[in-house]
Amino acid sequence: MSGIPHDHYEPKSNAGKWLHKRLPIVSLMYDTLMIPTPKNLNWMWIWGIVLMFCLVLQIITGIILVMHYTPHVDMAFASVEHIMRNVNGGWAMRYIHQNGASLFFIAVYLHIFRGLYYGSYKAPREITWIIGMLIYVLMMGTAFMGYVLPWGQMSFWGATVITGLFGAIPFAGDAIQTWLLGGPAVDNATLNRFLSLHYLLPFVILGLVIVHVWAFHTTGNNNPTGVEVRRTSRAEADADTLPFWPYFVIKDLFALAVILVGFFAIVGYMPNYLGHPDNYIEANPLVTPSHIVPEWYFLPFYAILRAFDSDVWIVIFFNFVSGGIIRADFFGVVMMFGAIMVVALAPWLDTSLVRSGRYRPMLKWWFWIFIVNFFVLMWAGSREPTAAIANVSLIGTAYWFAYFLVILPLLGVIEKPLPQPKTIEDDFKAHHGKADDTEGSAAAQPAPAK
Ligand code: HEM
Repeated sequence: MSGIPHDHYEPKSNAGKWLHKRLPIVSLMYDTLMIPTPKNLNWMWIWGIVLMFCLVLQIITGIILVMHYTPHVDMAFASVEHIMRNVNGGWAMRYIHQNGASLFFIAVYLHIFRGLYYGSYKAPREITWIIGMLIYVLMMGTAFMGYVLPWGQMSFWGATVITGLFGAIPFAGDAIQTWLLGGPAVDNATLNRFLSLHYLLPFVILGLVIVHVWAFHTTGNNNPTGVEVRRTSRAEADADTLPFWPYFVIKDLFALAVILVGFFAIVGYMPNYLGHPDNYIEANPLVTPSHIVPEWYFLPFYAILRAFDSDVWIVIFFNFVSGGIIRADFFGVVMMFGAIMVVALAPWLDTSLVRSGRYRPMLKWWFWIFIVNFFVLMWAGSREPTAAIANVSLIGTAYWFAYFLVILPLLGVIEKPLPQPKTIEDDFKAHHGKADDTEGSAAAQPAPAK
C-alpha cells in the first residue's frame, strides 16, 4: 500500500544533514508527528493517547513503588503500609498506580469498543488489531500479578482461585499449576515471580505499542466514515487530512486534561472506591473470604468463567464424552480465553463490505446490545454465584459468542447498508459547513511548497 502523500523532513543545516545521513531520527520524529490524519476524527479517537499516557504513568509510579516494596510474604503487606505512611508522597504514588490501572482499563475498553463500532479492525488494519489484542491480554496478566503484590486477602485468594484454574487442564494441570506458582501453593516463590513479571511485562507492552503505532501509521488511521483517505494525489490527500501536529495533539491533550481532572479527584478524594476492603487485611491462607471477587475490569470474564458449572448441559456432554477428563472449571477457562480469541478474530468474522457502523443500520442494534451485555456480565461477575446469576452469565456468554460467530458473519450478507460519503472531505463538509470556509481545509489552500 502506498503511503498518504505528504511533506517529508529535509535537513537544512550542515549538522542536520550530517546526522540525517547517519541516524535519520529527526525525520522519524517529524514523520510521526506530521503524519496526515483524517480530519473528521471524533472524540472516540482520543483513547490511544490516553492509553499511552497510562502506560508511562504506570511505569514511572511502579518504578518508584518498587524502591520501597519488599517482595516477601512476611513483609510485603507491611512494606505497602510503610509506603502509604512513611515514604514521602508514597500514598500518592500508590493511589495513582492503583487507580491508574483502572483508568488504563476504562481507556482500553473504550478504545476496543470504538474499533468494533467503526470497523477499525477490518482490512487493512488486521495487524493493528491483533497487536492490540496481544497488548490487552498482557495488560490483564500484568494487572492480575500486580494485584497479588500488596499481599492482602483478595491478593492471595484471587491468585489461588485463578492459578487453580490451570490445575483443571486435563493430564498436565497439576504440573502446570505447580510450575506457575513455583511450589504447591501460592507462596513466597509466587510473590517473587509475580513481581518480576509485573515489572517486565509493561516493557513488553511498550514494545508492542511501538509496533501497534507503526502498523496504523502504515495503513493510515481509520475514521468515523470508514472511508479511506484518498492517496492518488497530494491535493486530494490534503483535502481529507490534517497533520497530527498541532491539530490532534492539542485535541488529545485537551481531552487528557479533562480526564485527569476526574482521575485526580478520585485519587485525592475516593482512592479506594474501586478497590475491595478485604485487601486491607493481610493475606491469611487459613481464612477464606466469604466472596472472592477480582478487580472490576476482570468481572465480565470472571462471569464467563463461572457461567459453566457442572449443571450446564454442554459441560455434562463434554464431561461424558471425555470420560470425566474435561471438568466444568476447565470448560470455563476455555470459554474465558475463547471469549478473548473471538474478539481477536473479528477482522475475519465480519463479512460486511462496509466498515463503519454509522452506515450499518442492523449492526448498530446488535452492537449496542453487545455493550449492554458487557455491563450485564460485569454485574453478574460481581455477584455471589447463585443459580439465577449463573443463568444470567450463561445468557450473556452465549450472546458474546453469538455476536462474533453468528451476527457479524451473517449481517454482512443480510444487511442493507446506508449510502456512505464518497470522501472524508464530503463527510467533513456535511458536519462542519462548506470546506472552503474552514480555515484548516487544505482543499482551499495550495499545498505548501516543499
Ligand atoms: C497500551 C495499549 C494501547 C495503546 C497505547 C494504543 C495506542 C493507540 C493509538 C495511539 C492509536 C491511534 C489513535 C486512536 O485511535 O486512538 C491506536 C489505534 C488503534 N488501536 Fe490501539 N492502543 C492500545 C491498545 C489497543 C487494543 C487493546 C486494541 C484492540 C484490539 C487496539 C486497537 C486499535 C486499532 C484497531 C487502532 C486503529 C484505529 C484507527 O486506525 O483509527 N489498541 N492505538
